[in-house]
Amino acid sequence: MSNTKETINEINKRRTFAIISHPDAGKTTLTEKFLLYGGAINMAGSVKGKATARHAVSDWMEIEKQRGISVTSSVLQFNFEGCCINILDTPGHQDFSEDTYRTLMAADSAVMVIDASKGVEAQTRKLFKVCAMSHIPIFTFINKLDRDAMDTFDLLDDIENNLGIATCPMNWPIGSGKNFKGIYDRREGHIVTFSETQKGTKEGKETFISLDDKAAIDAEVGQEAFDKLTGEIELLDGAGAEYDLDKVRAGQLTPVFFGSALQNFGVELFLHHFLKMATPPTGRTSSDGEKIDPLERDFSAFVFKIQANMNKAHRDRIAFMRICSGRYDADKEVKHVQSGKVMRLSQPQQLMADERKILSEAYAGDIMGVFDPGIFSIGDTVCMPKDTITYEGIPTFAPEHFARVRQVDTMKRKQFVKGITQIAQEGAIQIFQEYNTGLEEIIVGVVGVLQFDVLKFRLQSEYNVDIILENLPYEYIRWVDNEDIDMSTLVGTSDMKKIKDMHDRPLLLFINEWSVGMTMDRNKGLVLSEFKKN
Ligand code: G4P
Repeated sequence: MSNTKETINEINKRRTFAIISHPDAGKTTLTEKFLLYGGAINMAGSVKGKATARHAVSDWMEIEKQRGISVTSSVLQFNFEGCCINILDTPGHQDFSEDTYRTLMAADSAVMVIDASKGVEAQTRKLFKVCAMSHIPIFTFINKLDRDAMDTFDLLDDIENNLGIATCPMNWPIGSGKNFKGIYDRREGHIVTFSETQKGTKEGKETFISLDDKAAIDAEVGQEAFDKLTGEIELLDGAGAEYDLDKVRAGQLTPVFFGSALQNFGVELFLHHFLKMATPPTGRTSSDGEKIDPLERDFSAFVFKIQANMNKAHRDRIAFMRICSGRYDADKEVKHVQSGKVMRLSQPQQLMADERKILSEAYAGDIMGVFDPGIFSIGDTVCMPKDTITYEGIPTFAPEHFARVRQVDTMKRKQFVKGITQIAQEGAIQIFQEYNTGLEEIIVGVVGVLQFDVLKFRLQSEYNVDIILENLPYEYIRWVDNEDIDMSTLVGTSDMKKIKDMHDRPLLLFINEWSVGMTMDRNKGLVLSEFKKN
């Protein structure tokens, strides 16, 4: 059965994106402002008034409360200008995890927030790399223009040189810091100034000034700032990349916007343009290479994240799915392709800013969390019973921190192995073994160091097992892609370590990038990869 007109309409309204940034660039503040426009919350601060509301968003693990940070990601949905927007919240603190990367696999585009005084920072670079891998469109919001900013041209160069993506400024800031007057909208050809906003409201008034309106420019912008703007725009028109929607949608060109999330300058304008340029849900590819059309095909979805212990009263797990095609109807049974089981999804829900809403229907582009009776794994596909679609798995991302795990009480061997394998199956950690050792010598790899604490905490509280973690100095991991390689003949550097993952695939750990290169040089034909398709 193909989809109804209503379903097609609903799908076309969806815009599903993630916000990527380095901590403190303003991701939370920007999200908060977006939600204000959608009317999803009434007062800014509901996303994160540090002490309270951030917990409300994902008050799932005890450890989050103890540390006052969000370990998990959630999804926020709201309507604006006829679109139904899903924002995938990616944990943004220093200790982000593999889930942050996986969440990006569920997005159709990304908004990259950059602090105007700092330019591209480390975490932005990492997240960008993952987005670039799936060629999703990336929209840049350069934030904090109300503070002294780097030179605008330098900011654009920084993005191009650091990330290797062409930039196309959609608007241009007029001054920064105390002298921030507003922006010039290049497409409309007018200046937009903003009145002071009251903290926490969207009421700040925008004024549009035509370039011919001398009097208004004098009053609102000032001649000096206007002359500087004119010079910069001339330069930009001559040298900058031209706007090209195809390139934007192919992830080759990032449209750049300037503003201040805190003061609500340029946020609505950004959202307005972004919704026009961002694509409705894009089709995902099945493992046999077929692109599944979101509008044509019946319901299908893939699991991108599994969250344990959402409810302290039960040991429950929630599997997060991205719907890839059609419409989900709670009254109908679906098939879990990997097990062949036909079933009704249990308690499908959508996570709003501070509540969970049980869903009766959802559409391609939407994210839903369903109760997992222990059958789902990351990357699994769910579709209608009559269909068989298997989506390409989610890649295994390279961990960046490693530790050897030792048990305090070796009598609890069984619980330890069970616990650590289950946690690894959920994808919170990756476990590795050295050659010639059994499961008593486990090396754990994580994307963010916080996951070590999560592991320790969960083994203790759920499996009653205490562990000691001995940090290892490795920072680079590469899977060996050559088939039938004899690992004993591989010659590396003295500080290289040969290990295997849980699927017995060989890999190498290195302390620095130099060793990676050296090992490549010493072994002709060696193929190493940073991501591994499961
Ligand atoms: P994040 O989620 O990317 O980590 O950043 P977040 O929004 O939490 O913002 C980090 C800090 O930067 C916050 O200040 C926030 O108020 C400030 N900020 C965000 N956008 C802007 C902006 O456009 N201009 C200016 N000047 N500041 C901005 P804080 O003092 O760390 O936190 P809070 O006490 O204000 O919550």
